[in-house]
Amino acid sequence: MEGFITTRILKGDICYSTDKQTLKTVPDGYLVCENGLVKGVFEQIPKQYQKLPMEDYSGKLIIPGLTDLHVHAPQYSFRGMKMDLELLDWLNTNTFPEESKYQDLEYAKRAYEIFVNDLRRGGTTRASIFATLHVPATKLLMELVDDAGIEAYVGKVNMDRNSPDYLCEANALAASMETAQWLVETQDAYEHVKPIITPRFIPTCSDELMSMLARVQKEFQVPVQSHLSENAGEIAWVRELVPESRFYGDAYDGIGLFGGEVPTIMAHCVHSTLEEMKLMKERGVYIAHCPQSNENLTSGVAPVRLYLDEDMKIGLGSDVAGGANLSIFRAMTDAIQVSKLRYRLLSEQLKPITMEEAFFMGTKGGGSFFGKVGSFEEGYECDALVLDESRIPHPQELGLKDRLERFLYLSGDDGVFHKFIKGHKIF
Ligand code: GUN
Ligand code: FE
Repeated sequence: MEGFITTRILKGDICYSTDKQTLKTVPDGYLVCENGLVKGVFEQIPKQYQKLPMEDYSGKLIIPGLTDLHVHAPQYSFRGMKMDLELLDWLNTNTFPEESKYQDLEYAKRAYEIFVNDLRRGGTTRASIFATLHVPATKLLMELVDDAGIEAYVGKVNMDRNSPDYLCEANALAASMETAQWLVETQDAYEHVKPIITPRFIPTCSDELMSMLARVQKEFQVPVQSHLSENAGEIAWVRELVPESRFYGDAYDGIGLFGGEVPTIMAHCVHSTLEEMKLMKERGVYIAHCPQSNENLTSGVAPVRLYLDEDMKIGLGSDVAGGANLSIFRAMTDAIQVSKLRYRLLSEQLKPITMEEAFFMGTKGGGSFFGKVGSFEEGYECDALVLDESRIPHPQELGLKDRLERFLYLSGDDGVFHKFIKGHKIF
């Protein structure tokens, strides 16, 4: 019954972010976790904790759990395939046909089991997940994620226009009523999983549907996730569809689904204008930076240096299947690498992001959407990973930061040895 114990001390080489520039490293340290909450990281076990059970991982790295702020579970089935198209063609040609298969609960079960199994085995402890518009398959996904012990938001997708007949809600009223009913059924149904309102993006959601979802949001007080300023063709289309909006984000804001009182994640923000950024900052909108997806779909490179320097809320997303890899370790190194290309090829005004900043975004930055999550400071929820570097041997002595950095680049999700969420041992 190991999984029920939430009080323990983990001994090992501990690394965690306190802020975006600061990576704390404590060799041979003790992470004290009591009732699922971090009491602190210590060089010696303080007297009052000496009786707590200790797990000795000496020589292994211990880091906070990772947050995937943006991932499409139904797209996991075609990850690593069909990526030689840009966003709108990619959606129509590849994504919508695949998502329509989740009408079939048998297919959904097979596909979602593979997704959840890999999510469970990797470094992600928190995730904000898109399902499809199908309620039965979405509830099945929620159950599977809950059984895996992952803390997550899962969204039934809304889309009622510019979508193929085989993947389109009948009308705004039917869609919002079905969404409200789904919220009634799922809001308090799971231990680890909560619903999140998920209009796919402006092009597939009518004004009427958006207004009705805003009303549903007010009634149920649940968070919201969507896509923003990912691709030039998409942005131009939004300008036509919502001519009264000043910019893409303003189209969400106009109906009250753009942060403020409503915790909101917007994926991508690759081509946001200064006006849009200003409003995102004012409203505390979370940016899900998805570097690999932005490469694969030829979307561009988000100005993450600006977002970080402006202290905006930002975390990382895999955006599977735009991104091929579920690993947030991989998202960290992708984020660093694309920022270097942007710096060299586009503008040397925005300096590349550093390893510390990438690690921060994948842990504490994205984790903060879930509360005090993603660090080992006192009072944080104890999500922790014990890492196994045995498959990436080295001949020389290495410090903790070097070991962590090479783990991000060379091992990632494959090297997660143990995983704890809110102090529960997942494996
Ligand atoms: N915009 C609307 N839907 C999608 C999606 O499924 N993936 C990505 N990357 N962008 C989107
Ligand atoms: Fe996406």
